[in-house]
Amino acid sequence: MTPLDYEYLRKLLKERSGLDLSSDKQYLVESRLVPLAHRYGHSGISELVARMKGGGEALIADVVEAMTTNETFFFRDKIPFDHLRETVLPALLQSRAARRSIRIWSAASSTGQEPYSIAMVLKEQAQLLAGWRVEIVATDLSLEVLEKSKSGIYSQFEVQRGLPIQLLVKYFTQTGELWQLNADIRAMVQHRQLNLLQDFSHLGSFDIIFCRNVLIYFDQDTKASIFGRIAKMLEPDGVLALGAAESVVGITSAFKPYPDRRGLYCLSMAPVARAGATPHALRAVASAAR
Ligand SMILES: C[S@@+](CC[C@H](N)C(=O)[O-])C[C@H]1O[C@@H](n2cnc3c(N)ncnc32)[C@H](O)[C@@H]1O
Repeated sequence: MTPLDYEYLRKLLKERSGLDLSSDKQYLVESRLVPLAHRYGHSGISELVARMKGGGEALIADVVEAMTTNETFFFRDKIPFDHLRETVLPALLQSRAARRSIRIWSAASSTGQEPYSIAMVLKEQAQLLAGWRVEIVATDLSLEVLEKSKSGIYSQFEVQRGLPIQLLVKYFTQTGELWQLNADIRAMVQHRQLNLLQDFSHLGSFDIIFCRNVLIYFDQDTKASIFGRIAKMLEPDGVLALGAAESVVGITSAFKPYPDRRGLYCLSMAPVARAGATPHALRAVASAAR
């Protein structure tokens, strides 16, 4: 790959997916695109780039897709899912009691472990949510990961990463070496292809948005733009969850940290966050519901 090939790919990837490659990531590009070049019958990246310059949206989409990092696992970082169960959900059960509906968006859902972890947390509270409309929308740029997510089929290795054994036994069916999520959990999640660089206001408003481990690949301006647009889609008392290495600090003033709940953020204009909602609060909601 020549320096000019690298510059061409860097610019294209930034425009198409937001991926912000520094000047020293040639090894990453090579490890991802040499196999793709071979699949297309080319000897290496220079030939692939020459073909891309000749046009071909399908090839460009494959290149963009090959450069996405899809690493994920069930209940990744654990804490956001504990907060969901112990703080966010109890608060929503109270504040949404009249309309009895909750909308959640997993904004870079990869192969589905994140939206399905959310679905299992909610399913575990099925008694409290009886009669409620619960929507989980899973979106990603990559069609390949969305297809896998829709299938709900995971390897032994994947179900061993982060998933408590009792949830595996309860919500999955084993077929040979693979495990498939049961249809009722799969049905809780709607999948759509979506590029976060583009307008996403058509998705409507959400009570909870998980946008985790994707913004780390973008530059500051792109992050700020996405935060600004996410802020418009979050209900005034809604909650944003970011990845463990991500933060809004120094990027946007639209969000502030949710008090005492690491990884969670609320709108800066939000009413005072309901810090202190605990399993005890959840039990109180549960007994009121009985
Ligand atoms: C590292 S995974 C994170 C998965 C999950 N949120 C988690 O934290 O485990 C990042 C995902 O972001 C997706 N992605 C990358 N660029 C994107 C973009 N511009 N719009 C939407 N999704 C994108 C990738 O395809 C990938 O599946």
